[in-house]
Amino acid sequence: MCGIIGYVGQQAAGPILLEGLQRLQYRGYDSSGIAVLDHDGALAVLKRAGQGALADAFPSAESIAAGRVGIGHTRWATHGGVTDRNAHPHSSTAGDVVVVHNGIVENYRALRDQLIEDGAEFVSETDTEVIPQLIAHHLRQGSDFPTALRATMATIEGGNSVVALHASDPQRLYAARKGNAGGIVIGFGEGEMFLASDMPALIPHTNRVRYLANGETARLSSAAVEIWDSDGNAAPTEPESIPLDPVAVAKGPYKHFMLKEIWEQPRALSDTIRGRARVDPGQVVLEDVPLSDDDLRRLRRVLIIGMGTSMHAGMLGRAYIERLGGLPADFDNSSEFRYREPLLGPETLVVSISQSGETIDTLGAMHHVKEAWNAPQITVCNVPGAATTRITDGSAIYLRCGPEIGVASTKTFTASMAALYLLACRIGVARGHLQPADLDDALGTLLAVPSLVDRMLQQSDRYEEIASQLPEASNLLYLGRGLHYPIAMEGALKCKEISYIHAEGYPAGEMKHGPIALIDRHTPTIAIALRDALYGKMCSNIQQVKARDGVVVAIGTEGDEELAAQVDHFIPVPATGELVAPFATAVPAQLLAYYLATLRGADVDQPRNLAKTVTVE
Ligand code: G6P
Repeated sequence: MCGIIGYVGQQAAGPILLEGLQRLQYRGYDSSGIAVLDHDGALAVLKRAGQGALADAFPSAESIAAGRVGIGHTRWATHGGVTDRNAHPHSSTAGDVVVVHNGIVENYRALRDQLIEDGAEFVSETDTEVIPQLIAHHLRQGSDFPTALRATMATIEGGNSVVALHASDPQRLYAARKGNAGGIVIGFGEGEMFLASDMPALIPHTNRVRYLANGETARLSSAAVEIWDSDGNAAPTEPESIPLDPVAVAKGPYKHFMLKEIWEQPRALSDTIRGRARVDPGQVVLEDVPLSDDDLRRLRRVLIIGMGTSMHAGMLGRAYIERLGGLPADFDNSSEFRYREPLLGPETLVVSISQSGETIDTLGAMHHVKEAWNAPQITVCNVPGAATTRITDGSAIYLRCGPEIGVASTKTFTASMAALYLLACRIGVARGHLQPADLDDALGTLLAVPSLVDRMLQQSDRYEEIASQLPEASNLLYLGRGLHYPIAMEGALKCKEISYIHAEGYPAGEMKHGPIALIDRHTPTIAIALRDALYGKMCSNIQQVKARDGVVVAIGTEGDEELAAQVDHFIPVPATGELVAPFATAVPAQLLAYYLATLRGADVDQPRNLAKTVTVE
C-alpha cells in the first residue's frame, strides 16, 4: 500500500515530491521520506515517522533545496515498526545508493545475513534495506546501474517495485518492477520526467504516461526515458495519453476495476497478512480481536455468517477452523440465519464476514446474535468503522485491501480467506490444537500465498484463450470437492454476476443427483482436481462428464499430464500446501468469468440488476 513519487528536471525536486506524497497519502501514511540529489552528486535524505511530520520538518531542511532529482515515499509498515529509521528512503552502507520500495522482499532474511557477512551494515528492521545493499554489491562487482538494478530484482523474491538514485549519476532516476505488488507509472513532461506508484500523484504534471510492465527497469533523465525488459533488451518507451477523468485515473492500465482488483490480490493478501503472521517462532497477532486465550479455550463452536462472496469465504473458513483451530465450525447465509432459532450461547463464537460492513442481512443476523444470544462476535471487514464493527464493539479483522469498486468481489474474497486462516491459527494455538512447529508451518505456508497467487495471475493469457474457446454456452457447471467446493461456488457466482451465463457450483459428489442431466456438448464444466486426497474421486466425476460429450476445463496440479490428456483444457496449479491451494484455484475461477463476460461485451464493473452493497432485504 506504500506510495512512491520520483522527479528529474529543472525545478526544485523537494516541493514536487512533497506535494506528490500528499496526493498518495491514501496508500499509507505512517511515515514518509524523500531523498534529493543535486547536480554535484550531494545526496540529502529527510524522513520522519508520523503523519505530517515530514511536511513539518521540510522547511528547515536546507540540504534539500538544491536538488533537481529526487524520490519520495509514504509508508504503510510491513516489516519493522513505525520509526524514523524504518521510514523510506533506505540507503546502502556507503550512502550512495538510495531507494524507495513497494512490496515485500520475501527472502530478505537470507539476503540480509549474506550481505552482513560481506560487510554491509544495516540500520533498519525493514526488508527494503537489502535492496540498496544488493545494488551496491553489484556495482562493486563492476556492473553499471541498470544491470545492478536488474540483477537485484532477479534476486529478490515476491512482488516488488523499486525507485532508486545513485550519487555518482546525479542527473538520473531509476525504476524497476517485478510481479504485481504495485505498479510504477512514468510521467512524461516537457524537460522533466516523473515516476509514481499511482496516477493521482501525476495529475498536476502530465497525462502522457507509460506503465512499467512486470520485469522492466527504466532510466529517466530530464530529456529521455530508457526501458529494458528482464533480459536487458531495450523495450518501447512510447507514452500513451490518458484522459484525466478520475475514474480512468483510478483504473490505471486496467480495462475494468474488477480486473485491477483481481491483479491486486498479491498486494491485498500481503496487506491482510502483514504483521499478523509471524514465524520463527510462530505467532498470530489479531490486533483488534480482544478475545484472550482463556476466552478461546472456552469455545465449543464457531459459526460463520455472510452473503454472496463473503459467505463463500466463510465456507472455507469452516474448514480452516476445523483443521487448524480444532473446533467444530459451520457457516450460514445471513439472510437465513437471522430468521432461525439457532440455539447459540456464550460458547459459540459468531464470525461475520462483510466486505462493506453494511450488508443488511448480515447486520440483521449480527443484531439477532447480540440481542437474543449475547454470543461473542468478531467481524471480518474491509471498511474501517463500518456498521458491522460497531455491533461487535470494534472486535474485527480488517482486510486492509483498499477500496473495492468492482461490484463482483474478488480481492476481498481471498483476503477474507486469509483472515479466517489467521483466526483459525489463533484459535488452534490457544486451544493447544496447533503445536509451535505446526503453527510455524501453517503461517509459513500462508506467507507464501501472495507469490502463489502472483504465479496464477501470470497465466492470465491462458485463461482468456480458454474462455474464447468454450462453446457459446448458456449453462456452465463448476465442480469441486473439499476445500475447492467453495471455489466452485464462487467461480459460478462470478460467472452469473458478470457474464449472465447461468452457472452452478456443486460439490462434485452431488453431480449424479441431478446436475449431470444438464451435461451435453453445449454445457462446459470447470472441474478443480488437484492431486490431493480427493483427486481420484474428482477424476471419476470428470470421466462421467466426458462420457456425456461435455467439454471439461480442469484446474489441476502442475505436471499432471495424465489429467491434462483427458480434458479439453488444462490449467496448471503449482504444487502447494493443501490448505492454501484454494487461493490458487480462486484466480482462474475469477479470470475465466471475467473473460467470458468481456468476450460477451458485458459491463463487468456494473453488472445489470446488482449493487455493490445490498442495504435492503
Ligand atoms: C453484493 C455484492 C457481492 C458481495 C455481497 C456481500 O451481492 O455484489 O460481491 O459478496 O454483496 O457483500 P459484503 O459487503 O457483505 O461482503
